[in-house]
Amino acid sequence: MHLSPEIFFKNCYGRYAIPAVNVFTMEQVLGLFSSGEKAKAPFIVQITPAARNYAGPEMLIAMINAAAKIFPKAMYAVHMDHGIEAHAFDAIRSNDYKSVMIDASHDSFKDNVKRTKAVVVEAHKKNIFVEAELGVLSGVEDDLSIDEKHARYTQPSEVQEFVELTGCDSLAVAVGTSHGAYKFSGGDGIQFAILEEIQRRLPEFPIVLHGGSAVNKEEIERINKARGQLMEGASGVSPEEIVKSIAYGVCKINIATDTRLLWTRVHREFFRDTPELFDPVIPGKTYMREYEKFMLEKFELLGATNKAIDMNV
Ligand code: 13P
Repeated sequence: MHLSPEIFFKNCYGRYAIPAVNVFTMEQVLGLFSSGEKAKAPFIVQITPAARNYAGPEMLIAMINAAAKIFPKAMYAVHMDHGIEAHAFDAIRSNDYKSVMIDASHDSFKDNVKRTKAVVVEAHKKNIFVEAELGVLSGVEDDLSIDEKHARYTQPSEVQEFVELTGCDSLAVAVGTSHGAYKFSGGDGIQFAILEEIQRRLPEFPIVLHGGSAVNKEEIERINKARGQLMEGASGVSPEEIVKSIAYGVCKINIATDTRLLWTRVHREFFRDTPELFDPVIPGKTYMREYEKFMLEKFELLGATNKAIDMNV
């Protein structure tokens, strides 16, 4: 069932978190829906502008709608990740999304407020949920690259005013995580003192953590053993930190890198171990199986397993 993140976040606040996973391919969509239905866990399917450029918005939505038919018990929300106005307005018009993100986090506070509010006004006419971002994450994602040295944490003193002025429904914050496989190169992990202060100023308000991949060391080693060349410094957010953040109001954990690493490992090992084969179906099936396993573990870690039945819809 396609639901608003609002319903998810009302249920999970302070108790568990919802994984929000970026999808680009059919294998990822099928892996995500099958795991969500199996775990009876709510989840968010995210589409980035880069994914729309790759497969085309119609194709991605058609795949998601088909997966929802194949897995009719899945409880999910479709979300536009890291959009600018053009993407957000297009998503709102399409009626295919329950939620959009307007990412104006690189702008000044004033411009961020202005741009976010303009999207909120249109989205709320159709009861579409809006995620905004305050503070800048470091790292690389899709075609979005920010120099580490310009990265800046969310200022807790600004959050209340930002939410009041924009009317946004959830807030992505910069508290130490970054996108991609090389997190924390110059940082000290999640800044819980900042998260705590944000929660004090925005009680019961859903907080979003971008850059939520764990970047498992074992995956990196397997990729490199199969002729990958990922750097030693690849590291992500520890499971302990992710779980700890839930008590501070983090309701949504964004994940993309881990599913890409999984794809890389499965395909590199397939080509290394069976160089005589040339059938995409074989690694495709392995990837879907491994993806489902990865998600089942993630639902368990975030406490989301069996929570779809609490939704009361
Ligand atoms: P990761 O790079 O940690 O997977 O983060 C993804 C993300 O934040 C998508 O918006």
